[in-house]
Amino acid sequence: MDHRMSIPGEKHRKLELTWVGKGQEHRLEPRILIEDPELSYGDDKAENLLIQGDNLLALKALEQDFSGKIKCVYIDPPYNTGSAFEHYDDGLEHSLWLDLIAQRLKIIKNLLAADGSLWISIDDNECHYLKVLCDEIFGRANFVANVVWEKKYAASNDALQFSVSHDYILVYSKQQSWRPNKLPRSQKSDSAYKNPDNDIRGPWQSDNYTCNKSITERPNLYYPIVNPNNGEVIYPKKTAVWRYSQETHLDHQRKGLIYWGASGNNSVPRFKRFLSEVSEKGSIPETIWNWEEVGHNQDAKREQLQLNSETPFTTPKPERLLERIITLATNPGDWVLDSFLGSGTTAAVAHKMGRRWIGVELGEHARTHCQARLRKVVSGEQGGISKSVGWRGGGGFRFYRLAPSLLRQDDRGLWVIEPRYNAEMLAAAMAKQAGFRYAPDPEVFWKQGKSSEKDHIYTTTEYLTGEMLDRIREQMSEGESLLVACTRFESGCEGRHANISVKKIPQMLIDKCEFGRDDYSLKNVIDMPRDPSLDWGQQEVEPWVAPEEPEPAKAPEAKPQNPQRSLF
Ligand SMILES: C[S@@+](CC[C@H](N)C(=O)[O-])C[C@H]1O[C@@H](n2cnc3c(N)ncnc32)[C@H](O)[C@@H]1O
Repeated sequence: MDHRMSIPGEKHRKLELTWVGKGQEHRLEPRILIEDPELSYGDDKAENLLIQGDNLLALKALEQDFSGKIKCVYIDPPYNTGSAFEHYDDGLEHSLWLDLIAQRLKIIKNLLAADGSLWISIDDNECHYLKVLCDEIFGRANFVANVVWEKKYAASNDALQFSVSHDYILVYSKQQSWRPNKLPRSQKSDSAYKNPDNDIRGPWQSDNYTCNKSITERPNLYYPIVNPNNGEVIYPKKTAVWRYSQETHLDHQRKGLIYWGASGNNSVPRFKRFLSEVSEKGSIPETIWNWEEVGHNQDAKREQLQLNSETPFTTPKPERLLERIITLATNPGDWVLDSFLGSGTTAAVAHKMGRRWIGVELGEHARTHCQARLRKVVSGEQGGISKSVGWRGGGGFRFYRLAPSLLRQDDRGLWVIEPRYNAEMLAAAMAKQAGFRYAPDPEVFWKQGKSSEKDHIYTTTEYLTGEMLDRIREQMSEGESLLVACTRFESGCEGRHANISVKKIPQMLIDKCEFGRDDYSLKNVIDMPRDPSLDWGQQEVEPWVAPEEPEPAKAPEAKPQNPQRSLF
């Protein structure tokens, strides 16, 4: 008989956080990304991506190429504090906020590498709800830590109750086997190592020689030790036996690793741990991060003022905070993603630290703040962590925007292809929609993308005839298959060749996902400042072209821009 408490009918219920709208998943359209070469900057071989647009659609757009590849995701979402900031409005009702974050976290999880980790800045308004939500999405076992970051160096004397001096950083790993890198040792921790006995092995620190196990738990660790200086025989307490076996202890004694105090007559031995041994290994991170180590909000504001004295971004993080996270979570060359990029701190720090990065920002500050800041970084900007990491400039990034939705409803409510899609965009979008990688073969017109070596896709707006299909069939080799997506075709095309399937746009797409929606950021709740030229309204019918921007002033070190826009 099972003696555990059971509640009738409750067997299938689980511990979970619920909110209004939970479980109503959006069927997101996998958009293509379109480069704005005017805003891309520096080395055109650089892989870094700065994306302007709603991050839910942007994360979805990245899934095809980046699933399982991102080593570190850092996000600093609006904290839902109820206060309105200059560059975005933060007052979402709790359910809406949770829903907004939950949808994004699910895609972020797909993007993370097996040895990847997620770091989320948050405060007490939502931290504990967010923890439960992350437990549900990432698995409770993958919770790593809740870091307390001391964001202020002085109390706010006008606080009515407490002056809050910290934020949290919730850390989750994709898998439990995740381990952080070690941190370089600080001068402060090194200064705890001294050399009072002029040991030729250098400075050392004395460590406990007993442990918290009892004689019953570890009988082999209860034995007598003789102080060689005075012959005294010493036993440990029965509740806290020696830390090392007798054999190891004798080895320590032979190597002169035991300290008996300045007089040599202490009643318990201590272990000599040398700085030379620990400094190579670095130090393990702790969960309290003081402002002396990683900066505070005022540092971040000062960094902003140096970058943009007229309209500094109002809620930036200090570069040293991101340096700490990126040090722990990545190695040079790894991918770092921030989908709430704000003023671009994560991308700037990742760039200076030799990581590849992707930043997504919805607001117009993607251009006015992030793009401008990253241009300066590429040109060797010397604020923030630049001096401490020896940054001298280099590299580059590409600036992308989300393409408009592929389908729109016409005046009669019928779904039609968005007229701003030209042939190239349509081919790229159809490949992405159908799960093919867009890679047009310069020699074979019908090989526009593939899902495997032998499975291709061809999208055309021409009227497709049986004769056209026969010609393509003749060029196909053994084992090859083809999906033709077209708007109109002659009767008899379907089933004409066993290895060629013919589908009609937009019919083949309509049920696949939600079209015509450009913003999942609950814009009615957060009113983002936006560039009106980016509002893909229903009325315009001209082919889509990137909005014109004045040429940004280039720093002399910058390399020429890539004049060709690319699709992603
Ligand atoms: C707290 S700020 C991030 C600050 C950043 N860590 C820094 O150091 O500058 C949050 C940012 O998320 C952006 N954001 C909010 N909702 C978004 C969405 N749906 N897609 C993309 N960005 C969004 C806001 O515009 C804002 O710039």
